[in-house]
Formats: sequence, structure tokens, C-alpha cells
Amino acid sequence: MKIAVVGAGYVGLVTGTCFSESGNEVRCIDIDEAKIERLNRGDMPIYEPGLEEIVERNIEAGRLSFTTDVASAVADAKLVFLAVGTPPADDGSADLTALWAVVRSVAPHLNEQAVVVIKSTVPVGTNAKALALFQEILGRTVDVASNPEFLKEGAAVNDCMFPDRVVVGVRRAEASDVLRQLYEPFLRTGKPFLVMSPESAEMAKYAANAMLSTKISFINETANLCELLGADINDVRSGMGHDSRIGFAFLFPGVGYGGSCFPKDVRALSSLAVRHGMKPRILDAVDKVNQHQKRVLIKKMEAHFGAGLQQKTIAIWGLAFKPRTDDIREAPALVLIDWLLEQGARVRVYDPEALDNVRAMYGDKIEYGERPLETLNDADALAICTEWDAFRQPDFAEMRNRMAAPVVFDGRNLYKRDRLAEAGFTYFSIGRATVIPESNDK
Ligand SMILES: NC(=O)c1ccc[n+]([C@@H]2O[C@H](COP(=O)([O-])OP(=O)(O)OC[C@H]3O[C@@H](n4cnc5c(N)ncnc54)[C@H](O)[C@@H]3O)[C@@H](O)[C@H]2O)c1
Repeated sequence: MKIAVVGAGYVGLVTGTCFSESGNEVRCIDIDEAKIERLNRGDMPIYEPGLEEIVERNIEAGRLSFTTDVASAVADAKLVFLAVGTPPADDGSADLTALWAVVRSVAPHLNEQAVVVIKSTVPVGTNAKALALFQEILGRTVDVASNPEFLKEGAAVNDCMFPDRVVVGVRRAEASDVLRQLYEPFLRTGKPFLVMSPESAEMAKYAANAMLSTKISFINETANLCELLGADINDVRSGMGHDSRIGFAFLFPGVGYGGSCFPKDVRALSSLAVRHGMKPRILDAVDKVNQHQKRVLIKKMEAHFGAGLQQKTIAIWGLAFKPRTDDIREAPALVLIDWLLEQGARVRVYDPEALDNVRAMYGDKIEYGERPLETLNDADALAICTEWDAFRQPDFAEMRNRMAAPVVFDGRNLYKRDRLAEAGFTYFSIGRATVIPESNDK
């Protein structure tokens, strides 16, 4: 099948590539010329495990190509996916500027049989508005389907190849038949292909992200309460999660959720509710708890250092909003870096994949480590913001030797408290009592 994917970002690039892997001829279009040039050289603009190899293979096989030319890419496509960004506007609603621009740019080039598929996360009612706009521009009706994407950055290729479900919102069965055919190779394990109205498909995406965000904010608030009450969140989590009605997924306490989806989608759904005259009490609480949680390490540092952060060196491990991605959009680490700079601290950071993105934001305002351990030289504390696997088993003795003071603020509960106590660290974590060594001779 000939497919055009407009927007070659995390979603467009990954899904377009996966469609080409199953034998389709895919052209990815983007307005970012530099990005398209890089992709045509086989140079990945994002870090996503396993992606580069599949992109290379499919470029070589002639099934995958990249262009800025909408007209040629769309003209003979049976499916035209729209996967541009829908970032938050100032009032929290989804900014659909890029989506409307794309509708206008693809419309004149669509062939009569084409099905337009909105993959971007968009407010309920956007599909209907897109259909109306196509009709206005073309003077005829067009099949506009909604096919929200549920992939997770860091595991995007796998999620795309083996989705838990595929959700499709259509007005005509013919449109869902084409999509069913496209997704057949990805659903061999018997996962469902769910057909519903465009409005339900649009809502299903927001509701899923809002639910996951709610779980995270719930466990974070519970963890903070555990600290006050002398309970340990790890034990509490076990006590809860073994209940089959609750489970363990997405119930890890931490420094709050970030990324390009959860924060903006919770706010966009909330703004949609307000626009329809409903007060979104849970959604607003989830967002507020999360904003508070992004400052949880700051609170602990204030208590530990008092007003004395000037001239202190703070090392940070983990900058991406989650492991296995280089994406730093709304990453909790950025909130910490900004605060530390305001306090006059010296900040030295390390991340396996996100350093370039952070460097583009902060330049020489902060220092960058090439390896986790060397980031710690003479540091007065280490803060951990992302749970990369490489941080799970560090050499604590070596860490202690390098640091000016053995203090760890662990925003992801990576370590056993006993281990850090034995190694002589002062150890702050989330929802657990602080470890304070009896004699701290360093
Ligand atoms: N990133 C995720 O994990 C994820 C997961 C599920 C759904 N989504 C949703 O998918 C959508 C895309 O997200 P993303 O993370 O891939 O965004 P992104 O910012 O990584 O990519 C968007 C791309 O669209 C391009 N673009 C913008 N305007 C364009 C235009 N007029 N013509 C052609 N290209 C244009 C941009 O240059 C960019 O490369 C969003 O609605 C997002 O909420 C994202």
C-alpha cells in the first residue's frame, strides 16, 4: 500500500518506518528541511532503540523515503497519516496550528480514494472539523479516520510492531477496512482492532493518558504521605499492587511525569471539559500534584543545604523525561537545573542520550559529564532524575571517593536504603525514610 506520513517526529517517523517494514511503500514528509536532509543521509534525528536499523533497511529496500514535498508524496497515497505535533497553547488547550496547516497543504493533492488518518493526539471534535475543512477546500467529501497512537518513547518500535490494541474511529466501514488491512501484520498475536466513532477514538487516547497520569500522581502523593507517617512506599506498593484489582504498572513513585504527552494531554482534556461546562476535578488535581512532585527533590535539598547552595557543585544523573529516550520535553530534571542555577549552584549533568538536547538549552551555564562517575568529581551531592539502567549498580565506594560529600537525592528510588547506609551515604529517596550515617567522616 502507498502511504504518506506527514510529520516525521517521534510518532510519524516510528510508525512510518514500521509500516514500511511490513512491505508498504512509505513517504515521510516534514517541513523541517534539516531533519529531512539528516534522514536521507541515514542520520537519526531522535534516539529510539532499534529504529536506525529498520530505517536503514527500508531505505535500502526502496520502501521508505523522506521529503519536504507534500504534493508528490501525497498524490498517489491511499493512506495519508497526519502525525504533526499538537503542543499546549498558553491556556492548556491543544494548539492545532500545525494540524490545520497540514490539512490545508495536503488537501489539494489528495486522490479520490485517499483516506486521511489523524494520528496526532487531538481534542474530541477535531476529526469532524478536519472533515468540514476538507469539504470546504475540495468541494467533496473525504474519508477522515482517527487512529490515535499509544506508543511509548523508549520502546516505540516494539509498541508499534506489537500494539496492545489498535483504535480506529471512522464514519464509513470502508475506511476501517483499509486500516484493518494495514494493521493485520501487527495484530497476529490476537490483539484487538477496535472500530468506533471518531469522537470515541479521540477521547480514548486522552482518557488512557489521563488514567496513566492519575496513577503516577496517586502513587507520588501516597509516597509523600508515607514519609510523613513513617511508612515505606516500597512496602506499601507491594501491599497494594498484589491486589489484582490494582496491579503494579505505573505505580512507581518518583519526581513526577514529564514528556511531550502526559502533561499536555491532561491539561488539554481539562481545558476541553471546562469548554463544555464541566469542572474537571480529578484532572486538575493530577496536574497540580505532578507540578508539586517535580519540586520534591528541591524541597529535600532546601532542607539539607539550607540557604547554602552557592558555590556547591550538584551532579545530576538522568535528564531525559524517562529512560531510553533523548526527549527532554517537560522533563523533571529541567525544573531542578533551573532552581539550582537560581541558587547559584554549579551544576554538572550526565545522561546517556539527552546531553545534546540539554546542551542546546543551557549552553555553558552548566557542565556536562561524559561518564556517570566523572560527573561526580568534587560534587557536594548527586541527584538522580531518570532511572536509566546504567545507574542501578554503581560502584558506591568509587562514588564516595570522588564526591566532596557522600549525599544522594534519589528521585527514582533506585537503591536499597541498607546499601547506601553501609556505603556511608546520606540518602534521600521518595516515600522512604532518609538514611543518615551515624558518623560521616568525609
Ligand atoms: N511522542 C510520543 O510519545 C507520542 C505518543 C503518542 C502520541 N503522540 C502524539 O503524536 C503527535 C506527534 O507527536 P511527536 O512527539 O511525534 O511530535 P514531534 O514534535 O516529535 O514531531 C512533529 C513533527 O511534525 C513536523 N511538522 C510540524 N508542522 C508540519 C507541517 N506543516 N508539515 C509537515 N510537518 C510538520 C515537525 O517538524 C516535527 O518533525 C502529537 O499529537 C502527540 O501528542 C506522541
